[in-house]
Amino acid sequence: MASTVPSVPTKLVDVEVATAARRDVPAVVLVSTGPALGPGGDGIDVSGLTGKAGEAVRHDETWTLGVGTGSLADYRAAGAALVRALSGEDAPKTADVLLTPDFDAANVRAFVLGAALGGYRFKVTGEEAPKRVGSLRLITADDDGFEEVLTSAALKAHALATATALTRDLANTPSNVKDPRWLTTTAARLADRVDGLSATVRDEKWLAQQGFGGVLAVGGGSARPPRFLELTYGTTGPHLVFVGKGITFDTGGISVKPADGMHLMRTDMAGGGAVIGALLAVARRKLPVRVTGLVPCAENHVSGSAYRPGDVVRHYGGATTEVTNTDAEGRMVLADALAYAVKNLEPDLLVDVATLTGAMKVSLGLRTGGVFSPSAELAAEVVEAGANVGEQWWRMPLLEEHVSAVASEIADYKQCPPGPGGITAALFLQKFAGDVPWAHLDIAGPARSEKVYDEVVAGATGFGARTLVELAEKYSR
Ligand code: BES
Ligand code: ZN
Ligand code: MN
Repeated sequence: MASTVPSVPTKLVDVEVATAARRDVPAVVLVSTGPALGPGGDGIDVSGLTGKAGEAVRHDETWTLGVGTGSLADYRAAGAALVRALSGEDAPKTADVLLTPDFDAANVRAFVLGAALGGYRFKVTGEEAPKRVGSLRLITADDDGFEEVLTSAALKAHALATATALTRDLANTPSNVKDPRWLTTTAARLADRVDGLSATVRDEKWLAQQGFGGVLAVGGGSARPPRFLELTYGTTGPHLVFVGKGITFDTGGISVKPADGMHLMRTDMAGGGAVIGALLAVARRKLPVRVTGLVPCAENHVSGSAYRPGDVVRHYGGATTEVTNTDAEGRMVLADALAYAVKNLEPDLLVDVATLTGAMKVSLGLRTGGVFSPSAELAAEVVEAGANVGEQWWRMPLLEEHVSAVASEIADYKQCPPGPGGITAALFLQKFAGDVPWAHLDIAGPARSEKVYDEVVAGATGFGARTLVELAEKYSR
């Protein structure tokens, strides 16, 4: 039977840099606000053009592409809009983009990110997929060494886009296909093809022997048992540990979710997907750093073997939690994984990423991730890493006045105390991060989108993967 999902990873638009335009290939002339035409624009009628970022117009064999004021966001939007315009019935195989003199490495990165991701598609139908441009060539002036600088910028951006796209692929895969075994074995299969990256997948027996009570409790209601993925890269340099929530479907469990919108919970492993995408990119780029990726995977389902509100669960390392709402399953599996990292991996930096709380969608909307960290410096590093790669973060507070609410009368901790949801979830996780420099990234808002905008298409966005790669790059030495 033919598969109901595209083969993962899906293919992105390729981008290269050169100093000479090609014959018989459509040329793309850039137009900044004004409108002001870039190189190759002689003879083009500007009437009707504004130069607004993303305005793509065909003039016979030449295209014009608005790049706005040339900000990073404008270039990202322009790259994405170009690829969308060069799709459909008469999509060319390739095109030459005639760069303006302001194109430095950062601008090329933004443009390439947009171009590679803007044409992303995850859809399986009975018909063939519509055509899309296969590659772009960025044409720069023949100045000393500039072509090399821009080429390496394009390669880096393409690696970041690949990390984002894989995260999207994993998160978009429907949960009849994607169970804990599929997610972990798919990641392991991809990791096996990359030098220096190794994958270990642990099953429910190992989890029981090791005492991963949180993962086992959440996974207990599903006929498809939980798994624990560990990806290891590098031997020297600071050790970063990334932990991603890997809930392959979240029904809410016995505290069942309303039917409206429940189907979207197939993307509830988007944090785990970001960790997998990031580890592959870090290893492919051979960054001089040590990174471990941990993804506790479980399906939160309803059945006679499901965990219950009122249960007490013992996590990896011994701490106990009183369950109050089975729909707060993310923190249950993350607690085990954080405790495992602290006990066994001696992290210099511990970052977890999760679609953890609906409350964050209310706090920051759908385009910004929340960063929780006791360290203002680390939070600022996350914000800055995100800004470099087109992901927006905002620091959230670990409010002292809510810490006492995480205590339980009958266990060490209470799973979901009253109070501001994103914050109390973060305070719960903090109990498992020990004294390690730690940041918690709640991506419940930006992990998926209803709309097409900039480099984002509807569905899973892959948010977070690029920030993790950029953080690893920052810690490289
Ligand atoms: N996966 C959800 C959070 C979520 C909601 C992500 C909407 C993306 C979009 C999480 O497991 C959850 O159910 N959280 C609960 C926590 C509550 C029970 C304390 C929530 O936010 O409602
Ligand atoms: Zn969830
Ligand atoms: Mn839930």
